[in-house]
Amino acid sequence: MESWVSDVVFEKPSRLRRLVKAALINPLANYMPAGLLRGMLRLTKSELAAANWADPGGWRSMVISYNGHCSQIADKILVNAGAMPMALRNRRRLGARLLARLIDQSTHQPAHVLCLGAGPGQIILDALLQSNCQAHATLVDLSTDAFEYGRALAESCGMADRMRYIQGDVRDVAKTLTERVDVVKMLGICEYLGDQQVTDIARCAATIMPAGTAMVFNSLSRAHGNDRFLRRVFGLHMTYRSPDQIRELMAAAGFGQFVTIPEPLGVYHVIVGRRL
Ligand SMILES: C[S@@+](CC[C@H](N)C(=O)[O-])C[C@H]1O[C@@H](n2cnc3c(N)ncnc32)[C@H](O)[C@@H]1O
Repeated sequence: MESWVSDVVFEKPSRLRRLVKAALINPLANYMPAGLLRGMLRLTKSELAAANWADPGGWRSMVISYNGHCSQIADKILVNAGAMPMALRNRRRLGARLLARLIDQSTHQPAHVLCLGAGPGQIILDALLQSNCQAHATLVDLSTDAFEYGRALAESCGMADRMRYIQGDVRDVAKTLTERVDVVKMLGICEYLGDQQVTDIARCAATIMPAGTAMVFNSLSRAHGNDRFLRRVFGLHMTYRSPDQIRELMAAAGFGQFVTIPEPLGVYHVIVGRRL
């Protein structure tokens, strides 16, 4: 599976940038008074900050980080120089490539991909565009405006007929879905859920996954160095889990044969597990 991603182009900070961040930027961001930092972000009309304040961990802040093209100066700095947005873009590339090859490998064609906490579906859209096989996706998310944005995005890529959108809580997925799935995507969601919730959702998904089919999910580490800033200034409280910890939760739900691939910053590991 590592060979599937060997030509993926990732973003990496230079050595100098890493040093400046560790010695200067991270301490300032983490320890300057939160009120002052929030005031500065408000004054400079940061869209990333506004998106996080409106919906911490929501899809809009993710889209801003993915796109990387910002008009406000504060966003240019946060999105292009911040380790977290860079790691997010790396995770998107890694996840999309793995999903594309899993779709190609599926014995059931056209493959059906279930995306839990999908947001507007950028990663699955990338995967469908990279895959050599026909596939369709069901996206589940709490947010309806994520789907408005996602529909327009899918349409602009000629993929609108391959996507189905279900507004709902992933914790209720068993009530809404009975159709067989060939790949499950749980990227960018477990860090917003408790251990029991992760296991319960994975157990539900397992009931509609034939043996051998794949689940793609991720761990999250504090390697970005900005957790204190994210909590105090953006109000973002995420659950950090090592690859071992998240694999353990998935194992309790009936998954195994894990393959774990880090993005170069070590913030995220993308993990593929098989339904046993
Ligand atoms: C940070 S975004 C990630 C979007 C996408 N998975 C990605 O990685 O690009 C998290 C998404 O999870 C959704 N979400 C969070 N908790 C959820 C839940 N319990 N049920 C359904 N969606 C949820 C949010 O609405 C949001 O769109």
